[in-house]
Amino acid sequence: MTRRDAEVTSLVARDQHVVTPVASEGDRTADVTLRPTSLQDFVGQRELVGHLEIVLGSARARGQSSDHLLFAGPPGLGKTSLASIVAHEMSSGLRVTSGPVLARPGDLVALLTDLHDGEVLFIDEIHRLPRAVEEVLYPAMEDRRLDVMIGRGPSARSIRLDLPAFTLVGATTRTGLVAAPLRDRFGFVGQLDLYQSDELRQIVTRSARLLEVPLQGDAAHVIALRSRGTPRIANRLLRRVRDVASVRGYHGVDERVAAESLELFGVDDYGLDKIDRRILGLLCGQFAQLPVGLTTLAHACGEEPATIEEAYEPYLLREGFLIRTPRGRIATEKAYQHLRVARSGGGLV
Ligand SMILES: Nc1ncnc2c1ncn2[C@@H]1O[C@H](COP(=O)(O)OP(=O)(O)OP(=O)(O)O)[C@@H](O)[C@H]1O
Ligand SMILES: [Mg+2]
Repeated sequence: MTRRDAEVTSLVARDQHVVTPVASEGDRTADVTLRPTSLQDFVGQRELVGHLEIVLGSARARGQSSDHLLFAGPPGLGKTSLASIVAHEMSSGLRVTSGPVLARPGDLVALLTDLHDGEVLFIDEIHRLPRAVEEVLYPAMEDRRLDVMIGRGPSARSIRLDLPAFTLVGATTRTGLVAAPLRDRFGFVGQLDLYQSDELRQIVTRSARLLEVPLQGDAAHVIALRSRGTPRIANRLLRRVRDVASVRGYHGVDERVAAESLELFGVDDYGLDKIDRRILGLLCGQFAQLPVGLTTLAHACGEEPATIEEAYEPYLLREGFLIRTPRGRIATEKAYQHLRVARSGGGLV
């Protein structure tokens, strides 16, 4: 094995889950560099962006803070990016926290009472806020006030604190888990959907410019097609293609180099990786023709049920590799064909 081949092998070993939408450490750094900063830079999600332009434009015209906003959708589609875009578009400061970090009501009270007028407070994974913390949020969102209990027992009394004007931006990968009273207090709920390949091509082209990767011909398109509808994956695949080109000493990246590099990382023509193939392999093999529950499938794959449901299934469903029935998941004919597995008996799905 040459030294270059050894470097490529070690790159592959480092990044086994190359197409999972969930952010890795490397992504977090890259996400910051590549994050769009204005609505104009934000590719795709046209309907949501159109609505947001109206909501933010109207608040700006009135010289007031915008309504509270909730962004929902699978990982890596741009929820955190939109939160910082909202602050940028409103020319206001941004405070960032997340549901699991706000463990006690006092944590949220401290944060809210420290806000400056007009600031945007971003709570990521808002579905993971403990109930007691959520209850502090209700009057804060509705009337910009906090009711704080001082003391204990018979001498305890409640004092009311007024808060500055602020916009709460929440993000969640699980809309279903956001309690209805909380969801109802958002003036606008934006659902993000998986991206189309021409939108991902634009994102790859923009990122390649920022990262100074010399893409040529249809290379951006090749990467886009394998990105599972997810900008974070598109950017990650671009970085892996850049790595391969760099260790192999290529000066430009054309569609052949892009395809070859992604193949090396185990990403196939549909952007499926090992875990996807394991899921489909189980559905077409061990569980062929039998509807399988999420927990059974997750255990058999060695992944968390939530990871399968949030990160893998949306794309497999969109591309028609599996269907969800009330009794469980079933592989479709397309999955059998893709894995080149013969179907034993039964009709077509
Ligand atoms: N519409 C877009 N246009 C251009 N780049 C995008 C867009 N959406 C996302 N990205 C890119 O994808 C990366 C991941 O997006 P972001 O962190 O906003 O996703 P997220 O929905 O918050 O994910 P998570 O649920 O894991 O927190 C961003 O850093 C950015 O580079
Ligand atoms: Mg995020």
